[in-house]
Amino acid sequence: MQTIHHIPALREQLKAARQAGKTIGLVPTMGNLHAGHVELVNQARQHADIIVATVFVNPLQFGPNEDLDSYPRTLEADQIKLAAAGCDYLFVPSEAEMYPNGREKQTIVEVPELSEMHCGSTRPGHFRGVTTVVSKLFGIVQPDSAFFGSKDYQQLLIIRRMVADLCMPIEIHGVSIVRDRNQLALSSRNGYLSPAELAIAPTLNRVLRETAQVIQDGRRDYDQLTRQALAELENVGFKGDFMRIVRRSDLQPAGDSDQQLVILSAAYLGAARLIDNLEFDL
Ligand code: PAF
Repeated sequence: MQTIHHIPALREQLKAARQAGKTIGLVPTMGNLHAGHVELVNQARQHADIIVATVFVNPLQFGPNEDLDSYPRTLEADQIKLAAAGCDYLFVPSEAEMYPNGREKQTIVEVPELSEMHCGSTRPGHFRGVTTVVSKLFGIVQPDSAFFGSKDYQQLLIIRRMVADLCMPIEIHGVSIVRDRNQLALSSRNGYLSPAELAIAPTLNRVLRETAQVIQDGRRDYDQLTRQALAELENVGFKGDFMRIVRRSDLQPAGDSDQQLVILSAAYLGAARLIDNLEFDL
């Protein structure tokens, strides 16, 4: 695997691959890789000849009081994992490479409405930062396909919408959540959890599963159910952000006749903001 820091050098390599008729799969990340990211690369290998992963802690998607400075940066360990997973190129740009005119002057890409709800209302501007950097990475790599984890459910839907709206000829693949043996969704931010918090953290997924089960058993009082679920999380030490039962198609609140649902959730535990979701059908 070759690590590349500059856009022209990466383009040069990929031009040769493209001319040789190879397809390119992109795995964008912010680094501090875990088994969930490795699964993205595994999936990419099933669909593309050449795999490009990126590691860039994108300042545009962090709010002023968020963890941009403390976000774990573990490039050497990431390189080892990506090479072992069969990645061909790792692109690690500096902030100046990505935003040469500065953050403020960067042209932005924004998906309206979908970016403002749920995580977007707690983290204003977050998804605008994500869609801007992902658009740039798409422009730099020009992949045939790109791979995103479905733990970031709203992000995945927003990227699909952006690609459709802007007619980007890229196939977007959502990859299933990878969990630890206690069903905690793997996340780079799990590293912020103390051993005691790590023991509590799987409650988030347990509450999601219990909530989906009672809905499948017939309950439709969604607001009451999410209030109860958040109260249960707070009882064990979480600080709830939100939990919502929504339609998978547009993330709007589920009504009685909707059948394809997802529960979206976010909650703080110590220094970590954890997210998880559960899709189910009625
Ligand atoms: O999901 C992430 O890790 C980031 O939001 C992404 C897609 C790499 C953009 O910075």
